[in-house]
Amino acid sequence: MNRQLQHSSDILVIGSGAAGLTLALQLAAHAKVTLLAKGELVEGCTLHAQGGVAVVMEPEDSVESHLQDTLTAGAGLCDPAVVRHVAENAAEAIRTLIAHGVKFSRERREDGLGGYHLTREGGHSHRRVIHAADATGKAIETTLLGAAQAHPNITLHEHRLAIDLITGAKLGAKQGTIEDRVLGAYVLNRDSGHVEVFRARFVVLASGGASKVYLYTSNPDLSTGDGIAMAWRAGCRVANMEFNQFHPTCLYHPKAKSFLITEAIRGEGGILKLPDGSRFMHRFDKRAELAPRDIVARAIDHEMKRLGAQCLYLDISHKPAEFITEHFPNIYLRCMELGIDITREPIPVVPAAHYTCGGVMTDVHGRTDLPGLYAIGEVTFTGMHGANRLASNSLLECLVFGHAAARDIIARLDTVSLPRTLPAWDESRVTDSDEEVVVSHNWEELRHFMWDYVGIVRTDKRLQRAKRRVDLLSGEIAEYYGNFRVSNDLLELRNLVVVADLIIRSAMARKESRGLHYTLDYPRADESQPPVNTILTPENFHSS
Ligand code: FAD
Ligand code: SIN
Repeated sequence: MNRQLQHSSDILVIGSGAAGLTLALQLAAHAKVTLLAKGELVEGCTLHAQGGVAVVMEPEDSVESHLQDTLTAGAGLCDPAVVRHVAENAAEAIRTLIAHGVKFSRERREDGLGGYHLTREGGHSHRRVIHAADATGKAIETTLLGAAQAHPNITLHEHRLAIDLITGAKLGAKQGTIEDRVLGAYVLNRDSGHVEVFRARFVVLASGGASKVYLYTSNPDLSTGDGIAMAWRAGCRVANMEFNQFHPTCLYHPKAKSFLITEAIRGEGGILKLPDGSRFMHRFDKRAELAPRDIVARAIDHEMKRLGAQCLYLDISHKPAEFITEHFPNIYLRCMELGIDITREPIPVVPAAHYTCGGVMTDVHGRTDLPGLYAIGEVTFTGMHGANRLASNSLLECLVFGHAAARDIIARLDTVSLPRTLPAWDESRVTDSDEEVVVSHNWEELRHFMWDYVGIVRTDKRLQRAKRRVDLLSGEIAEYYGNFRVSNDLLELRNLVVVADLIIRSAMARKESRGLHYTLDYPRADESQPPVNTILTPENFHSS
């Protein structure tokens, strides 16, 4: 065994987005923290977040109203206690960001006074979204990352892809014993190609969502649901995977891979239009452009299919050019690079997979089913989002749960000791792959059929088709994984196929339409009984 490849720390955090960094900075005064990112440290959904963070800041707004708006969007499946906890702790989370140096946009007033500017997004009954122009995520990510890099108790590693959790059970510990807990993780060093061991007293999954399982997505490439798949393989429950949120407005342009057009454009008066220039949203919902995302995405999908159109349009050009460039400078510049002047013409848009509402089940402290393992941020199902996440509640959940999990870990630090040296990764029976094409082909196939059969509008038949395909791919990928040396693409594909399977099974189990899950076979919500979450448990999960 190569002992040099055994890293150790009090807490291992997998993920360097808003959730992981918030937690690491809270823990660093008390413990040694190691934080991993599978790509560049700065890369992740957080970096690309545009609109902002929901927080009650004005006297005419209230936590009660934020709670109600979140419950309404969540279509009966939010846990009100969790939503209240998050909404009540929002202001403190924002104050911490400001103390770290995040520069949120301020109101422009002639007298030079004024507080922070709050924008509006779909489903919110007040202006309550604090933001840094249209690049809020970049302001948060770069500020928190800078603070973490400067902290002597935080060690950051990039290009380290966690493969699987190391658990007492995998090493033979009996269920319920003190050794039956998480001990660390096997991690691929993408620079050296070797697998290293990271052991820790506590492990935190902060690895983001899984929207890359769909062909079209607003997410960066790394959203492959690794944390969900790892937790699942380690025996944790996963819930509500059928609720994948599709953002209504991603830029439609052959050269614009995954570029979002923020909902705040609609919040500031942007209008959705058909190719002939007419409005349509009022036909679908009385809140028109400011209806929750599921409704707007479905309306766009419906109109595109009805008209055979490749995209629809979002128009803000009726606002003064100065207003547009001040509020949306990045979107203005990016569109200009592609030849679209948003101060003069409408923006071509299409829906795309955006956010994973389901995930690893946790309690209000971020604890999962496996002792010592926490999960925070988009990787989780906390009960916050229900059947549809309200805009700008995600970064908020990352921040509040980052604080909560840190508090819980600090309180338990002295009760757990560092595990002894763990077994090295066994590569003795594998060889280099002779057919990389299997991986690239299966990547494409998986994302295509998920888009076509498990997308915005579903049917039983489409889900059955998807299930047959995912079963086939699961078998092929398992065989490939067992025989060949691991690579980044193979590991991500292995996780994506697990996530796809979880999504399909959850969607098949829900015999109604609710929130983001819409099926033509059951077009209404089932009002005959109280709404239930779809909870999948590894022991009850058979492969057909
Ligand atoms: P991420 O920020 O996605 O970070 C994931 C981290 O995990 C990365 O560091 C990655 O390298 C690491 N990782 C993943 N797998 C592994 C592995 N196997 N091994 C090691 N490391 C791994 N939400 C809002 O509330 N407001 C917004 O305005 C908003 N705008 C958005 C705009 C866009 C374009 C997108 C895509 C999302 C937006 N969202 C917004 C959603 C929000 O940005 C995300 O839900 C949130 O940033 C997730 O943060 P996170 O810390 O959980 O994960
Ligand atoms: C956006 O800016 O439209 C994204 C906001 C979010 O996903 O919460």
